[in-house]
Amino acid sequence: MSLVVNGERHVLTVDNRTSLLNLLREQLALPGTKKGCDAGACGACTVLVDGQRVNACLMLAVRLEGAEVTTIEGLAADDDDELHPLQQAFVEQDAFQCGFCTPGQIMSGIGCMQEGHTGSQEEIREWMSGNICRCGCYVKIVNAIQQAGNGK
Ligand code: FES
Ligand code: FES
Repeated sequence: MSLVVNGERHVLTVDNRTSLLNLLREQLALPGTKKGCDAGACGACTVLVDGQRVNACLMLAVRLEGAEVTTIEGLAADDDDELHPLQQAFVEQDAFQCGFCTPGQIMSGIGCMQEGHTGSQEEIREWMSGNICRCGCYVKIVNAIQQAGNGK
């Protein structure tokens, strides 16, 4: 199969049971996407597929022929490592503790912004409800998404 990950095309042989999450972490050596529950319940594995946020643990890699996948490793600008505005907002708002959920929170937050769901803190909470943070950083995560979503 062939797919594009973070702008780079890959031609791969995959087992038909391989999840997108395992493909990224084990075959493409992109461990930024985290495995929390491996069952669609925590959001730690969130990536963008053709611009839409998905749980990579629930998606079979073989379904992604020709798809464009973006992971946390693909966000910063290549030339000068400039952070994506939402990555920068997470830093400025101190929106993490252990950081395990953070890649998924950021990828889901980008989806939330692209979908136009950053009108209020309540709206952000609703549309980010699939992303769990064991450290309880929700207030700061919402602040970061609101900051980036408003372009501040
Ligand atoms: S690891 Fe995919 S939702 Fe938890
Ligand atoms: S920062 Fe630790 S799980 Fe979210």
